[in-house]
Amino acid sequence: MAQPRLIVVSNRIPTGEAPSGGLVVAVHDALKACGGIWIGSSGKPVDTPDPGLRTISSAPYRRLAFDLSHDEYEGCYLGYSNAVLWPLFHHRADLISVDPDHARTYREVNDRVAGLIASVAEPDDLIWIHDYHFLPLAAALRKRGLSNRIAFFLHIPFPTASDMPALPEQGLMSGWLAAYNLVGLQTNRDVSNCQDFLRGSGKVKPLAGGVMQYKDRHFVLRSFPIGIDVDSLATAAADADTAALRLGEGERLILGVDRLDYSKGLPNRFEAFGTYLSRRAPDDPRATLLEIAPPSRQDVEAYKDIRQELETMAGSVNGEHAELDWTPIRYIRRNMDRSLLAGLYRRAEVMLVTPLADGMNLVAKEFVAAQDGADPGVLILSHFAGAAEQLDAALMVNPYDLIDVAKAIDKALKMPLHERHARYLSLIATIREFDIKWWTDTFLAALQDLAPMPAQDSAAYEQLA
Ligand code: G6P
Repeated sequence: MAQPRLIVVSNRIPTGEAPSGGLVVAVHDALKACGGIWIGSSGKPVDTPDPGLRTISSAPYRRLAFDLSHDEYEGCYLGYSNAVLWPLFHHRADLISVDPDHARTYREVNDRVAGLIASVAEPDDLIWIHDYHFLPLAAALRKRGLSNRIAFFLHIPFPTASDMPALPEQGLMSGWLAAYNLVGLQTNRDVSNCQDFLRGSGKVKPLAGGVMQYKDRHFVLRSFPIGIDVDSLATAAADADTAALRLGEGERLILGVDRLDYSKGLPNRFEAFGTYLSRRAPDDPRATLLEIAPPSRQDVEAYKDIRQELETMAGSVNGEHAELDWTPIRYIRRNMDRSLLAGLYRRAEVMLVTPLADGMNLVAKEFVAAQDGADPGVLILSHFAGAAEQLDAALMVNPYDLIDVAKAIDKALKMPLHERHARYLSLIATIREFDIKWWTDTFLAALQDLAPMPAQDSAAYEQLA
């Protein structure tokens, strides 16, 4: 049987240069392997949006972009997606900024994008929608009569049932999810949060095997932990030239690589590193923390202070511990080429991945893939990263507990080769088994297994979309 065509939809698409960011890299690798169409926003808002889709590339798969007006960008991307859904889904309801106009724009943009997808979709196409920018998209497609198999994958955590009431639109959420055939989440913890919420909504009944009943329809809810392309990362790491990074004699390298986001726990990390420095024995070798954290979403209020906070913290740790020939924290606030990053992963002796909440965290997986198996570095991983469910051979830490993280840094720097090796073998085996190909194949096989959703009374979707 011929493989159906795949249409992928996500807010961000690669616009020419090498893709970066967890979602974009993963989807790029998936589409490169199986072909299809990728539809996403052109990135920056424009004064006069093109009403249709523009082809921005045709190989190795078709990329079609839609424009957002300034109002759409502000209401949908900055406002509802990143000042309501992002903080709420990362357990920071205290940071949400509710604005009914933004909620309305979010639904209008989803409706408009549904129209664009409908203009290119054929009845047999599989439609795979990514992330929180597009929760109501399937409902908007069903409203237009599409019965295609449509899946959703959420790259970020699913909120707990006790966080969800902070969302004014929580009453719509179960209907939004139920319009998909398949809803994929990163971890079992997310699935259980989502099940609790759906059960509590009174509108969805969990049946056996992840099947959920909503009115007279069914959809499937399962976890599909996202993976990476291990070989391409390993090759890039082995080939990279990192000579520009100079360290003192015997100086050890600790690395952090993150988007500058409050969910990443960067101030806690810097403070924990300061705690480690205060506790370290005088004859311990020097360790430098190289943190690469490019800014992101700077027009969203909650992001405005993080940069300042982090720079103050770095200044304070360095002021206390630096020597004439040693700066303990080196902080780079710029995007770095992926191949150079891969080389830095390989050079680092310790990697700090200490988010307060994170869907998966592919940096943790990339670090392991980049290691020299004969002399591997040590991964320190927060319990709150989705990756913690799979990577239990890492040194697990509570990022809120500075002493716990400080002790883990000390342990990692002193870990004997046989232990580093045993942990690495366990980690790399998991990362290889559940790689990007496994993720795409398993997800798409699960979607293809499901029957198309019979076209129904589109009025039922009117109130949702
Ligand atoms: C996370 C989200 C993605 C998003 C990325 C970068 O990984 O899951 O959907 O694209 O962050 O954020 P940005 O707002 O710059 O697209």
